[in-house]
Amino acid sequence: MGLRPVRVPDVTRARYGPPTMTPERNYRRLAVIGHGGMADVYLAVARGIGDFHKLLVLKELRPGFAHSAEHRAMFLREARIAALMAHESVVHTYEIDDTGGRPCMTMEFLDGQPLHRVLRRLHEQDGLPLQLHLRVLVEVLAGLHHAHELCDYDGRALGLVHRDATPHNVVVTYDGQVKLVDFGIARAARDDGDTVAGTFKGKASYAAPEQARGGAVDRRTDIFAVGVMLWEALAGRRMWPDLGEVMIVQRLREAEIPGLPAAAAGGPELRALCERALAPEPDDRPATAAAFAEALARHCPAQQEARRDRGRRAPDLRQALSPQLRDLRAAGSDADDRRRHDDRRRPR
Ligand SMILES: Nc1ncnc2c1ncn2[C@@H]1O[C@H](COP(=O)(O)OP(=O)(O)O)[C@@H](O)[C@H]1O
Ligand SMILES: [Mg+2]
Repeated sequence: MGLRPVRVPDVTRARYGPPTMTPERNYRRLAVIGHGGMADVYLAVARGIGDFHKLLVLKELRPGFAHSAEHRAMFLREARIAALMAHESVVHTYEIDDTGGRPCMTMEFLDGQPLHRVLRRLHEQDGLPLQLHLRVLVEVLAGLHHAHELCDYDGRALGLVHRDATPHNVVVTYDGQVKLVDFGIARAARDDGDTVAGTFKGKASYAAPEQARGGAVDRRTDIFAVGVMLWEALAGRRMWPDLGEVMIVQRLREAEIPGLPAAAAGGPELRALCERALAPEPDDRPATAAAFAEALARHCPAQQEARRDRGRRAPDLRQALSPQLRDLRAAGSDADDRRRHDDRRRPR
């Protein structure tokens, strides 16, 4: 298609080319942001009358899946769920559309980096300061709580579970916002669509035991995922290092959750909170993401203050992260990382 992975400052100056139009000419794809399992994610520009231009993100079902009724249905469900979100910590979805027979959805462009890249980059230095890391997690929990509490138009709770709350699906923007993305495998309590009993969906390294067993999931499954993120924030390393997905799933099924290392950061209360979020039994975890967020926020007083005065939060986080984020911006996107990785593995 002639597109190269996104490098935002260059793309906004439209240096990468040639940009491609969607068949209906509604959108001009400028650059690739990512290729997921089922969809391609592009930075694009929508054009309208009166020289209207709006930068947005286009997530399109891959051509290979466009003829599969099952994948189309999954994609449309993702869009329907994403469309319900209206929260400052969740990406805003604009529309569902069709580009030449491929369903696509448009959403706000988050000019930033996924949290896993921020963490990876900072790991090479001193790591993300714990206070900031906790604040990111408080925002993630706020976004999740919004999703968990959503009701349909008749006021009935949807019982939504994200099921893929991982650092890959959290974007930290250059101006200091934290946004949850990707409702690709989210599911409402009344959905009977995809989940054949015993199948596993999601990323094993952030999955909960009930998910690994193919059992019923609810909001506490997402709480476990943030528990893993908290574990990693305190320990300064991955919770399941060097273990393949199959092994992780097996450990989870047997409820063998690694304890926090003795050298992990945080006082006894914070450590206890982390262990509670990682309780094998959902009943033993914080009951809601809001309760978890509130308990966590007690360990980062700046967060509580910033929440009272939203205007201060962004400059805070922005200033603290700006050197690292600038570096990452210069280093390109996740797709660049993968390309570099593939290049290294390719036999010469
Ligand atoms: N609205 C957005 N703005 C900027 N980057 C985004 C946006 N949505 C997704 N991304 C980036 O693209 C990646 C893949 O998008 P995602 O929706 O997670 O697709 P997948 O379902 O394939 O994982 C994300 O990890 C994130 O880095
Ligand atoms: Mg994703």
